[in-house]
Amino acid sequence: MRARFAVIPAAGLGTRFYPWTKAVPKELLPIVDVPALQLVMDEAIAAGATHIVLVSHVSKTPLETYVAPSQAVIDKVRASGRGELADRLALIGNDVKVTVVYQDAPLGLGHAVGCARNVVGNEPFMLLLPDEVMGDASMLTALADSCERTGTGAVGLMRVPMEEVSAYGVVTAAPGAPADGPYDIVGVVEKPAQKDAPSNLIIIGRYVLTADVFDEINKIVPQANGELYLTDALLAQSNVSPLTGILNTTARWDTGTPMGWLKAVVDNALLRADVATDFRAWLTQRLGN
Ligand code: UTP
Repeated sequence: MRARFAVIPAAGLGTRFYPWTKAVPKELLPIVDVPALQLVMDEAIAAGATHIVLVSHVSKTPLETYVAPSQAVIDKVRASGRGELADRLALIGNDVKVTVVYQDAPLGLGHAVGCARNVVGNEPFMLLLPDEVMGDASMLTALADSCERTGTGAVGLMRVPMEEVSAYGVVTAAPGAPADGPYDIVGVVEKPAQKDAPSNLIIIGRYVLTADVFDEINKIVPQANGELYLTDALLAQSNVSPLTGILNTTARWDTGTPMGWLKAVVDNALLRADVATDFRAWLTQRLGN
């Protein structure tokens, strides 16, 4: 079965982006003028999602406002000559269903994913962390293809310098895989010290998982910081059914920090046909001074 649900956890506090996130969810940070959340929903739809499950917190009402259909906004965007963007906006809440579920407190990514269970039921589902923006839908599509083909979960991976592994979930791949994967994942550890890290292969914020991961989430215990780690559930799942790791080959921006977001905005402005020429000229002049 192909995943048709896309779970997007967006109930976190966004502390690395204070004070912006005191009032506005980081998932709505603009990449030029399109919120990261819209880009992530576009990606999920391109990979085949027809039902988005947005995990929010009651305090983050701008997220609900954003996913609520607004014909007036769509008409204005279309009238401004941006028909392709208007088409993308028109899908949300119409052809593509959106269900908002609530996480009462930020008890970790594992807990946030568990909040989607009642909507997703027994089906495989895409999982997209909305503070990571991708260059296109190729990573998610490859994960959905893998899950559809094998009936087991798949996670997106990338290699980072060893000095950076302690910020991420790091996997152990079974020996014998081709250098560029796919890999059979036999271990996962969250934020290991560099000396303890099993590899430099980190999990990025794209997954297509099978529904049995919800059972594993129910079984895991909170870490010392009180959070349920998704990686703990994935480790348990990898012990009972194969989990495939696929290397990302497209662009990826981590917009969860100010520096990562700045890079995403600059790169995407340079990629946008309607913005690039003027922006590049200004930037070149600015950096020349
Ligand atoms: P992050 O850890 O990057 O987000 O989680 P955060 O906790 O909001 O940010 P910091 O670390 O305090 O700056 C990745 C995604 O998972 C969601 C977040 O909203 C973010 O989009 N999340 C995280 C939840 O929905 N619930 C949680 O308990 C934790």
